[in-house]
Amino acid sequence: MTDNSFKYTDLTDKQLRELLLSDDETFAPYADAAREIVMSSLGGMCYMRGLIETHNGCVKDCLYCGIRRSNSAVARYSLSDDEIVETVVNTVGAGYGSIVLQGGEQRGEAFVGRVERLLRRIASECGNKAPAVTLSFGEQSLESYRRWRSAGAHRYLLRIESSRESLYRSIHPDNELHSHARRVEALYDLRKADFQVGTGVMIGLPGQTTDDLVADLRFMRDMDIDMCGMGPYLEHKETPLYARAGELLPANERLRLSLRMITLLRLLMPTINIAATTALQAIDPDARTTALRMGANVMMPNITPMSVKAEYKLYENKPLGENSLTASLTEGVTRAGLTPVFGGKGTSRHYLDRLALGADTPSLSAMNFEV
Ligand code: 5AD
Repeated sequence: MTDNSFKYTDLTDKQLRELLLSDDETFAPYADAAREIVMSSLGGMCYMRGLIETHNGCVKDCLYCGIRRSNSAVARYSLSDDEIVETVVNTVGAGYGSIVLQGGEQRGEAFVGRVERLLRRIASECGNKAPAVTLSFGEQSLESYRRWRSAGAHRYLLRIESSRESLYRSIHPDNELHSHARRVEALYDLRKADFQVGTGVMIGLPGQTTDDLVADLRFMRDMDIDMCGMGPYLEHKETPLYARAGELLPANERLRLSLRMITLLRLLMPTINIAATTALQAIDPDARTTALRMGANVMMPNITPMSVKAEYKLYENKPLGENSLTASLTEGVTRAGLTPVFGGKGTSRHYLDRLALGADTPSLSAMNFEV
């Protein structure tokens, strides 16, 4: 650290590994450096995005997830277009410039066409206040991604869950629908479709090693992602992976590792957007604020209507109390020393830089961005 020529972006796998395993005192200067990047280079801003969980039906059967297809204990819901548009309009009215629509993976024209129409409706009903829209609806064809992009979506979140294929296979059913290679391809497709691409992983999975986490960091860097959302794996009793709960690190260790991953990713990729995710908060009520102090710069308050929010339960202890329009959320952001930014699109500088550099000849339409 005293060597002036040292660049955090050049951290080697060996160093990343040592830092993940280091004691708190050794790690502290790195967390401070990540914080300093957010405070100085990124202007000390925390982008706020309203998150709507549109439906909890899913074609996938991921072994860790509470809304997996085989979980018959879940009361399935799907918000209507009217309910979604109303929530978006209210959120935009409250000053938000950015929203996230997330839901279980659905396939077929009925779903793809519906999302397309919904995006156009959001744009027309919000007029000159139309928000930036992030989608998180799983793996779709390149053609579908392109349609959603043309209909007004800007960003897409698709977690790789784990970059190591064998670990991925151990937490998913062994079939075509849950292929690691297909998921990686979907990330490339999103990039081809000119999305700002976000991915992420779960931390503290049974069977996951420190080297896996290093590989996850390297994967995100090699994919040149624009955004990341990652957090601790949290057990859910009604899922097959619960049988391996005995192998898990204690929850506070999973949290500690998750925060370190955020710091190290910030050091490797100084200009991307990194979310302080809800799963962190499920372990410690204040963990999202801690994440904002250690390198994260995005918060996604859950604005799903209260009537269905509890049914979107990916893991246990999901926090349900928060509301986008209450002061408590911004209190956590300001306590971290950051300024909550509601208006504006909150585009990552990484994405703007890669457009400016013409990294992969994105279409001109993608340039019509306000920051
Ligand atoms: N614990 C933590 N995160 C989970 N997710 C799904 N199930 C769990 C769980 N049990 C995450 C996955 C998915 C995202 C929407 O939620 O990473 O991509």
